[in-house]
Amino acid sequence: MSSYENYTQTSAVYDHTRVPVGLEIISAALSAGSTKPDRQILLDAGCGTGIYTFALIDQVHRVEAVDLNRSMLSVARSKMDSTAENGRIGFTQGSITQLPFKTRSVDSVMMNQVLHHLPDQAGDGWPLHHQALKECARVLRPGGVLIINSCTHEQLEKGFWFYELIPNARTAVMRKIIPEKELDTLLCSVGLTLNGRMVDFDGVLQGESYFDAEAVLDYAWRKGDSIWTLASDHELQTALTRIAELSARNKLQSFMQRYDVDRPTVGQTSFSVAIKN
Ligand SMILES: C[S@@+](CC[C@H](N)C(=O)[O-])C[C@H]1O[C@@H](n2cnc3c(N)ncnc32)[C@H](O)[C@@H]1O
Repeated sequence: MSSYENYTQTSAVYDHTRVPVGLEIISAALSAGSTKPDRQILLDAGCGTGIYTFALIDQVHRVEAVDLNRSMLSVARSKMDSTAENGRIGFTQGSITQLPFKTRSVDSVMMNQVLHHLPDQAGDGWPLHHQALKECARVLRPGGVLIINSCTHEQLEKGFWFYELIPNARTAVMRKIIPEKELDTLLCSVGLTLNGRMVDFDGVLQGESYFDAEAVLDYAWRKGDSIWTLASDHELQTALTRIAELSARNKLQSFMQRYDVDRPTVGQTSFSVAIKN
């Protein structure tokens, strides 16, 4: 379960604002594996509502999609209506820290925006991150690829205009994001070799709705980013009041532009690609 977000509630609105990002980076990373992409079994670990599963199913042989939350999985399952996809996607409830798959049974694993939901904190040695990466290494065949889609600390600082409204929540989420150097050490310790790290400069996690500044006032829009759950009631109310005031003074658009100025150069998401030794 996420250590802070209630994905049972979020599942109802998650797809309103979330889109898959970095698909070209993921496709290129799949090609770095020892098996051709169209013959690969790809594990979508922490698949949520399956937005990456469905975006990539046509590039691989099969996707095994795993999530701990039944409601997120149920939304994902409900989207599988095409005969072509039927039988080529498996949905399983399970944890990334105890993957319900045999050793050396998949060719590639992707984890999109999942690791920071583990109940680890900066300073504790990231034991559950270690466990999850160990599980990825276990289920991968030698020469298989692991792709981790996450945000760096710099991206959290400069890549999301509305985080300016909730600075304490941003600090809280930063404590949940493993720094790259520590991630590299963990990858190495479980028998994975870092192959590269790429940034999606254009991808925006909430798609076009990210640019709809008024939408901050909408609960469903905020549910597109779990950071809002880390804001205290006071911080949230202060942010909503500020947005309403800026909107009333016709200053909202310029506020968004001011705090979105660095995003095109830092991006919102980074992709760490590692190969199983
Ligand atoms: C931000 S969502 C990302 C979902 C999907 N990968 C995407 O990018 O749209 C985080 C997902 O991680 C799942 N999750 C959190 N902890 C998990 C765990 N230990 N094992 C499996 N899934 C987990 C949540 O249920 C949620 O669906």
